[in-house]
Amino acid sequence: MNSGELLYEGKGKRIFSTPDPEQVVMSYKDEATAFDGAKKGIIKDKGIVNNRISALLYAMLAEQGIATHLVKVLDERNVVVKKLAMIPVEVVVRNRLAGSLAKRLGREEGDVLNPPVVELFYKSDALHDPMISESVAVAMGWATELQLQKMKEQALRINHILKEFFDGIGIILVDFKLEFGYYQGQLLLGDEITPDGCRLWDKVSLQKMDKDRFRRDLGGEEEAYQEVARRIETALALPQGCRMNNAVNRRGGLIGPDRRYTVFKANIYVTLKPGVLDPQGEAVKNSLHVLNYPNVEEVRIGKYIQVLLQGEDRATAQRELEEMSDKLLANPVIEDYRVEIVEVE
Ligand SMILES: Nc1ncnc2c1ncn2[C@@H]1O[C@H](COP(=O)(O)OP(=O)(O)OP(=O)(O)O)[C@@H](O)[C@H]1O
Ligand SMILES: [Mg+2]
Repeated sequence: MNSGELLYEGKGKRIFSTPDPEQVVMSYKDEATAFDGAKKGIIKDKGIVNNRISALLYAMLAEQGIATHLVKVLDERNVVVKKLAMIPVEVVVRNRLAGSLAKRLGREEGDVLNPPVVELFYKSDALHDPMISESVAVAMGWATELQLQKMKEQALRINHILKEFFDGIGIILVDFKLEFGYYQGQLLLGDEITPDGCRLWDKVSLQKMDKDRFRRDLGGEEEAYQEVARRIETALALPQGCRMNNAVNRRGGLIGPDRRYTVFKANIYVTLKPGVLDPQGEAVKNSLHVLNYPNVEEVRIGKYIQVLLQGEDRATAQRELEEMSDKLLANPVIEDYRVEIVEVE
């Protein structure tokens, strides 16, 4: 869909113009760089995975009252965002000692930082993103004191939300980088939140699930990024069917405002494949026996998901719903699903 003009090519994304001068398309690339571009490589499908991760996290942050640049996801690599006047100061929040701070202090990685640390860096590859103080940022005219205060406040609120969220999916949010910009006088969270700019450690194994795998030649970066996406999607989309509607709507670029479309209501039934163990079902069966229903022989627990979907025709809607089921709503390794379009408006 990138018919727009290429406005900027960064290390991880390209920025394209759109017909609306207030919006741009961010297009995520698979290219990975480290050490300010000195190390280069490809992480297969990183662009696709990062687009998914960032869009889901930004949508979640928006629900919690954080103003972000996200408008809508266009397709697997492209997202429409509000065009910001970027502030060239990166805000880094740290919950654990790691990376450049561990190096600066000559300490091992891992100590908990309480309260969390907020640091500012000047966004400049040529200078290797040097750490700066607030007064340098103000004196250089990169941001006002008030803007910096708001950025730091927002960064800590975002940290509070994300730290708890990641904890719930078995991931330690060690640190992350944010970029902010202005849009019609409003400070918005811009850029991305992905394993490219965060340190994420598995809570149990303490394995790294972020770009450090690439930086430090640990291998398995593709799988680690995919696993982060899978856990986020499972936590955000599945237990709350309504969130899925949002995700589907955010693909809305496929359906332009001047195109004719129909709204389809679909029921999706997800069940465990025969032979797959179902501990939850087993527990319910035992409870039913306790409640004096000894005649219950087997209980298998599944999921029922309702999706409202805009589409041009029924066959396309059915195909899209099956695609969604394969990619996200069901786990095709252990689950079967059945898609039923029940109503058409
Ligand atoms: N909403 C937005 N409007 C305009 N520009 C944006 C917006 N969000 C992010 N940007 C800018 O777009 C660019 C995104 O590309 P990318 O992240 O690849 O850049 P980079 O600066 O080369 O990489 P890095 O962030 O790793 O230093 C960055 O310069 C970022 O500041
Ligand atoms: Mg960037």
